[in-house]
Amino acid sequence: MAKHRPPAELPACYAVVIPGLETVAAAEIEQELGGDIKRTGPGIVVFRLPEIDERILELRTTEDVYLLAWGTDKLTYRALDLEKIRNWTAHDADWPRLLQIHHAIHPKPKGKPTYHLVTQMQGQHGYRRADAAKALARGLAGKLPASWRYAEENAAVEVWLTIQGATAVCGLRLSDRTMRHRTYKLEHLPASLRPTVAGAMVRLADVRAGQVVLDPMCGAGTILAEALAATGGKITAWGGDREAKALRAAGTNLRRLGGALLARWDARRLPLADQCVDRILSNPPFGKQLSRPEEIAGLYRRMLPEYDRVLRPHGKAVLLVSDPAPLRDAAQAVGWPRLEQVRLRVLGQAAQLSVWQKARS
Ligand SMILES: C[S@@+](CC[C@H](N)C(=O)[O-])C[C@H]1O[C@@H](n2cnc3c(N)ncnc32)[C@H](O)[C@@H]1O
Repeated sequence: MAKHRPPAELPACYAVVIPGLETVAAAEIEQELGGDIKRTGPGIVVFRLPEIDERILELRTTEDVYLLAWGTDKLTYRALDLEKIRNWTAHDADWPRLLQIHHAIHPKPKGKPTYHLVTQMQGQHGYRRADAAKALARGLAGKLPASWRYAEENAAVEVWLTIQGATAVCGLRLSDRTMRHRTYKLEHLPASLRPTVAGAMVRLADVRAGQVVLDPMCGAGTILAEALAATGGKITAWGGDREAKALRAAGTNLRRLGGALLARWDARRLPLADQCVDRILSNPPFGKQLSRPEEIAGLYRRMLPEYDRVLRPHGKAVLLVSDPAPLRDAAQAVGWPRLEQVRLRVLGQAAQLSVWQKARS
């Protein structure tokens, strides 16, 4: 009688996220994929899934997702790490199994497969990134089929080693650039938001089908695009901006997602009825690229009473700003309690996501 073998345990996965968004991404992994979070570190979430299939590529708050070959949070910063990296790569990872799962999600291309190695390193280590890359390559020797060719671009399989301080993760990349950049984003503007941050805002706002969702300063429309994508187009999306160029970009980006009602307006005087929207999600100018810092407090003071007027009782607002003090003052003036706050870095700048609720009718 054939022996019954239990199915081989699936490898863990990890996601690279914008630093600060680890908790939001972990919640998405748990709620959308039934994942079990193993650990989080700055910009990294390690998790296990009951099944690994293409649904992992639909996560909206992660920059990239990988199959974990090995991971550690015990690097010593000294050169002896290099031998450990080589050893872990050579002995701790089940490369045939990882490749099998990778091929199930991305079928092998015709012809000879290609591979690419990437090493990223942050922190002050007693070795160079190039040394870590060599250690990875030495550990991988003989692990990938001999017929595979190395390719600088568009390789079928990418092996990544990411070192951040004492933490290192190594794995096969499952996502490609469309996870970060999205296919809807045809038009970009200078201060356009990263889609994964907009995805996090949609989750923090608890946007649901049937709601009216407003971005009063919509720019290229990234936040409304994420709200439409997250609900399968089942929201009423309203957006506006004072710049015609922004509205043209938003129109192009939103068309394929179900569209939005867009208008040119000043967010301090919205041509909307009282209490007509369920959610306001927006990132007003940071006062760096688009306005002067001293204008920001005045802008927030004038825009929040308008947002308060159009928001339904118990409606929520999620706002991304770089300077939280003037926003807090303006929210206090309209009596909004803050439900949650997430600190993050957007394009190297400190920023804050805050969730507010209109508590009264
Ligand atoms: C940081 S950008 C928004 C980026 C947008 N979330 C995106 O992903 O493209 C801020 C936007 O606010 C607009 N804006 C600034 N002041 C405004 C005002 N008073 N009324 C309406 N729009 C305004 C700017 O034209 C700009 O498009």
